Amino acid sequence: MPGLLLETLRGKRADKVPMWLMRQAGRYLPEYRELRAEKGGFLDLVYDAEAATEVTLQPIKRFGFDGAILFSDILIIPYAMGQNLEFLAGEGPRLSPKLVDHALSSLEAVPQRLDPIYETVSRVKAGLGPETTLLGFAGSPWTVATYMVAGEGSRDQHETRAMAYRDPAAFGAIIDAIVDLTVEYLSGQVDAGAEAVQIFDSWSGSLAPAEFERWVIAPNAAIVSAMHARYPDLPIIGFPKGAGEKLPAYMRETKVSAAGIDETVDPVWAAQNLPEGLPVQGNLDPLLLLSGGEALDHAVHRVLEAFRDRPHVFNLGHGIGQHTPIAHVEQLISAVRGWKG
Ligand code: CP3
Repeated sequence: MPGLLLETLRGKRADKVPMWLMRQAGRYLPEYRELRAEKGGFLDLVYDAEAATEVTLQPIKRFGFDGAILFSDILIIPYAMGQNLEFLAGEGPRLSPKLVDHALSSLEAVPQRLDPIYETVSRVKAGLGPETTLLGFAGSPWTVATYMVAGEGSRDQHETRAMAYRDPAAFGAIIDAIVDLTVEYLSGQVDAGAEAVQIFDSWSGSLAPAEFERWVIAPNAAIVSAMHARYPDLPIIGFPKGAGEKLPAYMRETKVSAAGIDETVDPVWAAQNLPEGLPVQGNLDPLLLLSGGEALDHAVHRVLEAFRDRPHVFNLGHGIGQHTPIAHVEQLISAVRGWKG
């Protein structure tokens, strides 16, 4: 019997709504902070399959979520393409050399940097009951490219957007290379036991419509089509954060299996405008989870009501913040589980 989350992603509407939280394995959990301090760096944790397995399972043991998301990072792809990757405390990730001034062809690929991740997936799979769905993931080519080009996160992705206008051929080659490796990477995760995958597109909101079509929709459609050729029944969740009114086109044209939506989207609008029957995942504002109180319960009910007529996976509109009190997560779980549709 597949778990409730997997059933829902496959298009079934049950009485109960499954839930998991983006970034559920992370710094808001004291047990994560403890293991992280013991292991040193974030990458040391990711590359220690035993520790990464434990981190993946921590939120399942504590909260019994319906989905476990692999503990890794979207920047493992640039790392395997040959960039150096560092996570600087308080500053975020750094990739070098950055592709704004170095040709893609100057990188020497290190594909074996993906292998330890598959080891984590199979260990997690062995540690989960059938009721919990194992989710793999990757970043979308556009979002991953913004880090590869600029060498770090940036507020409006201007260097990457400028490069895409200035030299679309060179930029397109970067996107194509990410597409190809992402298909291999997601396939490796599925072969190791992932039952569904999510494509995180954290920065899709910075693109103008024609560029959104070219750099977000087209590469994601290529990934979905390649994955579905290999695994016809694999649910693929697309999460184009900030896509707003472009969401319906993204969902139709990429042919993802489920729509991840952020908190800026009105759930009532989404319920009316996304393709009929398409499972939806989202979209409570993570800041409401930080503040708690009655406003939290009220907003949870509003999201659940809005999506009552279609398959719905309850989630936040973006990752859980590191200062979120555990008690608020417990309140959220009671509100979702206690809801009588
Ligand atoms: O629990 C989970 O969701 C699974 C693991 C996961 C991580 N990163 C672990 C992580 C997932 C799915 C991601 C995705 C990711 N990584 C995204 C897309 C989603 C989003 O949040 O928009 C992006 C843009 C990244 C790149 C990244 N990784 C940044 C910008 C940072 C630094 C900022 C920060 O939050 O620290 C990371 C580091 C990172 N990835 C941490 C975790 C738990 C924090 C590392 C630490 O312990 O210091």
